Formats: sequence, C-alpha cells, structure tokens
Amino acid sequence: MYNSVCFLILTWVIAMLVFPGVPARSGDSFLKDNITVRQGDNALLKCTVDSKVSRVAWLNRTTILFAGDEKWSLDPRVILLPTAHTEYSIKIQNVDVHDEGPYVCSILSNKLPKSTKVHLIVQVPAKIVNVSKDIAVNEGSNVTLMCLAIGRPEPSIIWKHRSANGLKFVTEGEYVEITSITKEQSGEYECISSNDVSAPDVRMLQVTVNYPPFISKARSTRTAVGQRGVLQCEASAVPVAAFEWYKEDRKLFNGLNGVKIENKGNHSMLIFFNVSEEDYGNYTCVAMNKMGNTNASIILYGPGTINDVSRASLSQPSSLCLLVTLIVLYLLKF
Ligand SMILES: *[C@@H]1O[C@H](CO)[C@@H](O)[C@H](O)[C@H]1NC(C)=O
Ligand SMILES: *[C@@H]1O[C@H](CO)[C@@H](O)[C@H](O)[C@H]1NC(C)=O
Ligand SMILES: *[C@@H]1O[C@H](CO)[C@@H](O)[C@H](O)[C@H]1NC(C)=O
Ligand SMILES: *[C@@H]1O[C@H](CO)[C@@H](O)[C@H](O)[C@H]1NC(C)=O
Ligand SMILES: *[C@@H]1O[C@H](CO)[C@@H](O)[C@H](O)[C@H]1NC(C)=O
Ligand SMILES: *[C@@H]1O[C@H](CO)[C@@H](O)[C@H](O)[C@H]1NC(C)=O
Ligand SMILES: *[C@@H]1O[C@H](CO)[C@@H](O)[C@H](O)[C@H]1NC(C)=O
Ligand SMILES: *[C@@H]1O[C@H](CO)[C@@H](O)[C@H](O)[C@H]1NC(C)=O
Repeated sequence: MYNSVCFLILTWVIAMLVFPGVPARSGDSFLKDNITVRQGDNALLKCTVDSKVSRVAWLNRTTILFAGDEKWSLDPRVILLPTAHTEYSIKIQNVDVHDEGPYVCSILSNKLPKSTKVHLIVQVPAKIVNVSKDIAVNEGSNVTLMCLAIGRPEPSIIWKHRSANGLKFVTEGEYVEITSITKEQSGEYECISSNDVSAPDVRMLQVTVNYPPFISKARSTRTAVGQRGVLQCEASAVPVAAFEWYKEDRKLFNGLNGVKIENKGNHSMLIFFNVSEEDYGNYTCVAMNKMGNTNASIILYGPGTINDVSRASLSQPSSLCLLVTLIVLYLLKF
C-alpha cells in the first residue's frame, strides 16, 4: 500500500520534472518516420541528445519506460542501449502487435521540453487460418469455397483454378461462390494470401464434380470366324463408370460363352476368344455410376458385310452421275 502510493507520487514528481507542461507544445514535438518492424523482430528506437540535455525519458503512449538510466517498465523485453552521450536509445525485443503505437523520447534541454515521437508499426506475415476442405459435389450444385487469412496489414486473397486448361485467375476475396457447378469447374483451387510482409501463404483444395457417364467411344468392328475379336467402349464419368455388356437383352458375364470382359479405368473391352458365326450381332455397352447410366450399341460384323459396304459405296458414283445428268438436262431446257 505504502509502496504503490509512493510509486504514484514518484511518477507524478518525475513527470513534472521531466515534462513540465506535458503534453509538449506542438512546436516542440516533431513526428519522425514510422518504424516498421515484423512481429518477433527487435525494434530500435533512437533519440539524439546533446550536452545541453539535462533530463531524458522514453514513454510508450503515456507510460514511462525509462527515465534517465532508470528502468520504469516491468517488461523485460525493453532495454536501454549503452550508447555514447549523444544518443539515448532503447530496444524492444520480440515485438508483438500490442506494442504498436506512438513512442516518445522526451528531453529537457536548456530548461525547454522537446520530444521526438516515433510511431511503431508491427507487421505480421499473411497466414491462412481457415480454408474449405476438399469437396465432392454433384454437377449443378451451388458451391462456396472459403479462405480466411490474418496478417498486418490486412492480407489480400486471390483464387486460382488449375484444370486441364492450366492455371486461371478466378476471383478476389475470402469466398468463391459457384452457382450450378459444371465438370469443367472441377479441379484444384489455390487460395493465395499476401500482404508483402513475407512470401504469400498458399493453400490448395480439390473440388470434385460428380457427373453421369457419357460414352465417348463405341466402335463397331469386323472380325472373321476363328479370330480373336474385341469390342471397345469408353465412358467419361465421375466417379469412374462401371460397365455391363448385353447381347440383345441377354447380359454377358466374364468367362462365360467364350467371352472375357476387361475393365480398365474409363474403358471396357468385350473380348471373344474365338469368334463364331453366332457371335455376330448387336451388342450394348452400358456405363453407369451413382449419377446415372447410359448405353451405346456396338456391332460385331462378319467379314461378309464388307461386301455390303463396298456395294453401298459403289452405288454412290451412279447416283451422283444421275444428279449431274438431271442438272444438265434442266439447264439445257433454257
Ligand atoms: C505513420 O503511421 C501512421 C499510422 O499508421 C500514419 O497515419 C502516418 O501517415 C505514417 N507516417 C509516415 C511518415 O509514414
Ligand atoms: C506499450 O503499451 C501497450 C499498451 O499499454 C502495451 O500493451 C505494450 O506491451 C507496451 N509495449 C512496450 C514495449 O512497453
Ligand atoms: C473454419 O470455418 C468454419 C466455417 O465458418 C467453422 O465452422 C470452423 O469451425 C472453422 N475452423 C477453424 C479451425 O476455425
Ligand atoms: C443455386 O443458386 C441459385 C441462384 O442463387 C438458386 O436459384 C438455386 O436454387 C440454387 N440451387 C441449389 C441446388 O441450391
Ligand atoms: C475356334 O473354333 C473353331 C470351331 O468352334 C475351332 O475349329 C478352332 O480350332 C477354334 N480356334 C481356336 C484358336 O481355338
Ligand atoms: C480415359 O482415361 C485416359 C487415361 O487416363 C484419358 O487419357 C482419357 O482422356 C479418358 N477418356 C475419357 C473419355 O475420359
Ligand atoms: C442395335 O440395337 C439397338 C437397341 O437395342 C438399336 O437401337 C440399334 O438400331 C441396333 N443397331 C443395328 C445396327 O441394328
Ligand atoms: C439403353 O438406353 C435406353 C434409353 O436411354 C433404355 O431404354 C434402354 O433400356 C437401355 N438399355 C440397356 C441395356 O440398359
């Protein structure tokens, strides 16, 4: 009790001695350049003095840190630097954001108060603190991606999208709102947070867009009796499609009736070990996933049908000939 009262009185007495008429008149104080320090670094606050100076002190806002050689601050991070008589400087170690603010070096010189004010600015590198998790959604869904960052100054956030077409800028800001997402909008999204204090903080997230299969390749083939025959079917789908094969309405099974079904990723093969006359015909490849299913007809032709095709192509020149003849006849009428 006695101690704290004594301390208060002492503060007041010293304040009066060191800063008669605090705050100093505007003409006596001058704002120096701001000091910018990164969080965790040390800040050096310099103050120049001369032989006419009788009393000196450093203040953090209105709290005395040092009065002459005497330390008033209880903060161990604040130290007085042993310097020449022309300098009265302090160091603040391991600077934190709450240290930001005005610091004043107060001088009594020739019985005139003077003060040097420095503004300590504490910078904090941009850091992403919360970002959306990888997501899988169905085509057509509305999707919101989030990326929250902290830092001083306030970091900016930009989004980029990496797809088959490369890396493209999407938007600026904490949120990306995608209405009715398409499969082209699937892929990796990058959230880049920066404030020029240090390297940007970057986080990635994966957006998977589910869509029903569509068959991109279903080619009919010709195979002679006694040969190995293959029918192929390829489907684009997310999740990857499962395949089934039918001949007319009959489902085919792997290993039965001399056929093998081989599925590899997005494509399926129906393999005939030894094609026979009964194998010729119309097959159906069905591709399905949880989003839906689709099918395509694939025909296994015998070599005989080649003749039909050549006959069909042979008939083309004759019909062209007929057309030319008709045009010539039409023109001759005039
Ligand atoms: C110092 O920082 C303050 C507060 O951030 C700002 O208002 C002022 O313009 C800065 N002065 C200089 C010289 O940078
Ligand atoms: C400066 O004052 C602020 C506010 O009172 C305090 O939070 C901070 O720790 C002080 N910093 C130093 C280095 O004294
Ligand atoms: C991140 O943000 C989400 C949504 O605002 C919230 O539910 C979650 O608790 C946050 N996570 C962390 C670690 O702050
Ligand atoms: C997606 O957003 C649009 C426009 O905001 C809205 O009309 C639509 O109903 C939403 N769709 C779903 C599936 O929520
Ligand atoms: C294919 O089947 C035919 C008749 O069923 C048979 O004669 C022939 O040896 C078989 N070929 C092979 C390579 O198995
Ligand atoms: C099937 O997969 C292959 C290899 O992964 C890829 O090159 C091809 O584009 C895919 N096709 C479709 C239709 O998705
Ligand atoms: C094969 O069958 C499908 C339906 O099962 C039918 O739509 C298609 O026309 C048939 N193709 C041929 C060449 O007969
Ligand atoms: C193929 O698709 C058609 C129409 O989409 C459907 O009517 C038919 O049942 C399907 N066939 C098979 C074998 O799934």
